Amino acid sequence: MVDPLLRVPQPTAAELAAEGVSVRFQGLAALSEVNLTLLRGEIVGLIGPNGAGKTTLINCLTGFQRPTTGRVALAREDTAGWNPARFRKAGVARTFQAGRLFRDMTVAENVEVTGVGLGLDRKSAHSVAMEVLDWLGIADKAARTAGTLDYTDERRVGIARALVLPPAFILMDEPAAGMSDSEGEDLVGLVTSIPTKFGCGVLIIEHNMRVIMNVSHRLYVLDGGRTVAQGTPAEVQANPAVISAYLGADV
Ligand SMILES: Nc1ncnc2c1ncn2[C@@H]1O[C@H](COP(=O)(O)OP(=O)(O)OP(=O)(O)O)[C@@H](O)[C@H]1O
Ligand SMILES: [Mg+2]
Repeated sequence: MVDPLLRVPQPTAAELAAEGVSVRFQGLAALSEVNLTLLRGEIVGLIGPNGAGKTTLINCLTGFQRPTTGRVALAREDTAGWNPARFRKAGVARTFQAGRLFRDMTVAENVEVTGVGLGLDRKSAHSVAMEVLDWLGIADKAARTAGTLDYTDERRVGIARALVLPPAFILMDEPAAGMSDSEGEDLVGLVTSIPTKFGCGVLIIEHNMRVIMNVSHRLYVLDGGRTVAQGTPAEVQANPAVISAYLGADV
């Protein structure tokens, strides 16, 4: 029998990039001329103070926000006019800063919806959903109504939805926010294994500096919508602009 997954085209893109992306909301410059590259197989951290433009950048990279100027390119192809569903089909998935589950559906159904949306039949969608839920350690809650989950498990289901039919890239908006230190560390441990387990590139926003410096191969730092630093964790931590962005000091 043909593997049902093989009938769904698998994403092959090797690079997702923001090229000179600016976003203006009325008078406010949420992003100004931001460049970012994410390659398959790497974990890239995105940090910056509240309101720096981090979520807006993820929104642009996933089709939820149109750049005012500049462009987002997937495997060098211009994505102008693509909606989020088209990004997902082409292999770009994301998680949200807050919930967004179908609260009256079961955990398994919440994840299956993504598989069906990507072209799987119901049965295959169920089996891939269970695989991802199992990997995230919540397969035992598959039959629970999503609305009854605690916050930590809600976050896990959001991640499961993003990882169904492994995307080429997963963009995670503060996946550990609101978790206890140990829950957050468990989750970040899983995030670290996403590139090898699923073959994805990972972009992750995370406020805990120790955690983000540990998991990221490279980082970008935004402040006031501008890139103020980028590089390896060691380079970024030694950068005066980062110290200034976080401590508000003049350097
Ligand atoms: N839809 C919108 N309309 C108007 N202003 C917006 C909109 N979305 C974001 N902004 C503004 O753009 C700026 C960047 O917001 P964004 O949510 O991207 O920041 P962030 O770095 O994700 O912050 P946080 O760490 O608090 O999540 C902020 O000043 C925010 O108020
Ligand atoms: Mg945000």
